[in-house]
Amino acid sequence: MSYGLLKGKRGIISGALDANSIAWKVAQRAKEEGAIITLTNAPLAMRMGEINKLAEECEAKIIPADATSVEDLEKLYEGSMEALGGKIDFVLHSIGMSTNIRKNRPYGDLNYEWFLKSLDVSALSFHKMLQVADKMDAINNNGSVVALSYIAAQRSFPDYTDMAQAKAMLESIARSYGYVYGKKNGTRVNTVSQSPTKTSAGTGISGFNAFYEYAEQMSPLGNASADECADYVITLFSDLTKKVTMQNLFHDGGFSGVGISEEIVNKMGQ
Ligand SMILES: NC(=O)c1ccc[n+]([C@@H]2O[C@H](COP(=O)([O-])OP(=O)(O)OC[C@H]3O[C@@H](n4cnc5c(N)ncnc54)[C@H](O)[C@@H]3O)[C@@H](O)[C@H]2O)c1
Repeated sequence: MSYGLLKGKRGIISGALDANSIAWKVAQRAKEEGAIITLTNAPLAMRMGEINKLAEECEAKIIPADATSVEDLEKLYEGSMEALGGKIDFVLHSIGMSTNIRKNRPYGDLNYEWFLKSLDVSALSFHKMLQVADKMDAINNNGSVVALSYIAAQRSFPDYTDMAQAKAMLESIARSYGYVYGKKNGTRVNTVSQSPTKTSAGTGISGFNAFYEYAEQMSPLGNASADECADYVITLFSDLTKKVTMQNLFHDGGFSGVGISEEIVNKMGQ
């Protein structure tokens, strides 16, 4: 169902890899709500070709950009403003990658070059996206920028290794840059902390099925799906949330507020 929440708005959506990606759902919902968008992803991800289907469906131009490259990001904003006919109203950062996780390195045996890469791709890229746009004055008054996070920024999840630090940094960047952008032109910067979701990045974490099921049974509303996450992100891009900024917003079915659930008590035995 469409409410016309993003009518007349221009947006950039990163991170749509395949139809399971959270960013894929956000792009579809943004289009449905009346926005015009460009899509971006790392040049490597383009080779899979899936994003072309989404671009066709959303009538969106694809502008490849490695989110760790300032030069690529400059081209992304330049190309997006040209394609969309003006400054950008909303940006989605939906980017995460850890080689330590991919290679199953335990927390006590992390490769530090990979650790730095995780921070660069998954967190510093958010600062780069914000700073490049700031310097180019590419974001419209009362714009909205959202990045996706996970509760491992606040709590320990053994298999999430260096991504826990990346998410903590990501959330901190939203607070620091949210202040700067608020003063600059009323643009909000927030992170959405999403439930475990069955995507390529999500299922790549060892033990994913266990913490997906655990979160499902801990959350009074159950896990939030990628479609539900997209709905929430759309409200943050809309004019209905103009005074929400510098926040880490849990979109997790209540998981973050629960100590223990009846389901888990029953599983453990009385
Ligand atoms: N899936 C989950 O359980 C879950 C839960 C909470 C938060 N998140 C976060 O949601 C975001 C999106 O992940 P997803 O679950 O949709 O998985 P996904 O694998 O579909 O998306 C991750 C994206 O990051 C892109 N990417 C990687 N390196 C890049 C680079 N250098 N430059 C540009 N793009 C790059 C990938 O190509 C991919 O499109 C991530 O930040 C992830 O940490 C996911």
